[in-house]
Amino acid sequence: MTSAVARAHTNIALVKYWGKRDSELMLPQTDSLSLTLNEFYADTKVEFSAQLTADELIIDGQPVSGKGLKKVQKVLSIVRQMSQINQFARVESINHVPMAAGLASSASAFAALAMAASSAAGLKLARRDLSRLARRGSGSATRSIYGGLVEWHRGVDDLTSYAEPIMEKVDFPLEMMAILLNTEQKKVSSTLGMQHVVETSPYYPAWCEVVQADMQKIKLAIEKRDINEIGHIAQTNALRMHALNLAADPGFTYFNAATLQAMHAIDNLRASGTNCYYTMDAGPNVKVIYDRADRSKIQAALTPLFGADNLVVSQPGPGTVLLDQK
Ligand code: PMV
Repeated sequence: MTSAVARAHTNIALVKYWGKRDSELMLPQTDSLSLTLNEFYADTKVEFSAQLTADELIIDGQPVSGKGLKKVQKVLSIVRQMSQINQFARVESINHVPMAAGLASSASAFAALAMAASSAAGLKLARRDLSRLARRGSGSATRSIYGGLVEWHRGVDDLTSYAEPIMEKVDFPLEMMAILLNTEQKKVSSTLGMQHVVETSPYYPAWCEVVQADMQKIKLAIEKRDINEIGHIAQTNALRMHALNLAADPGFTYFNAATLQAMHAIDNLRASGTNCYYTMDAGPNVKVIYDRADRSKIQAALTPLFGADNLVVSQPGPGTVLLDQK
């Protein structure tokens, strides 16, 4: 095998990962739990070749160097070590996610890279090991190997920090709507944001306790297929993650005016009887969590504020798959 193409979907955390314990191994401070989305994904081709004199990365037709290439090379190096291949690779990725806007483009990117690179190198990794490999590129990618509702066990070392599906095929009407408020590159990367928070936010120890409790609660809510409870836990968890940022020194936020407007609109909708909840990541965009039956009411309320084109509905999505191998 010398080349392979994989497709991976993004995921949005309902209980967030926000802090590393080990940045080389990419071990998180806490467990986390996410929903893989059908609407946003990356297709990535990896080809090892004796003709290449360096690794190459092309995203959406544009050559990428610097930090982006370094992260990709970290994953490629692990694959080379595991497979004893000593050739350089060309990585070509088509991203169906607005990049770096808090829509977890890195999750789909590194999950697709892990599968494409390991397959191109002739390795047949089990999904747990793919999840561990994806983790080395980006924490959230650990969870994108699986579809549906997924848990990432923080673990204690490289072997024990991996994701597992809780419900790969979501059998209840859970849906998510992304409100695209700003698709520009974010100002504070998740790596910097979380490092700053772990080092300076006095609320960090409380956050670790919150996550432990939220993991228990949300798993029970999933078992009961209780969308309101899932949404309530996710919204509270997201607000507490963002409170860490505000309380850091110096404090910062990913929210902009439109983020707050969306949060208020969703709170108002819920107060007037339509159950829906929000979550935000390392960017200004807002994701709405609700029961599919309420979709049109939510769209009707949000369209005048944000425009129909900026509301993207997504069903739960599948895990990472191999599209081609040569
Ligand atoms: O894996 P990263 O570096 O893209 O960090 C993701 C962090 C959040 O999206 C904010 C939370 C999460 O659990 O995905």
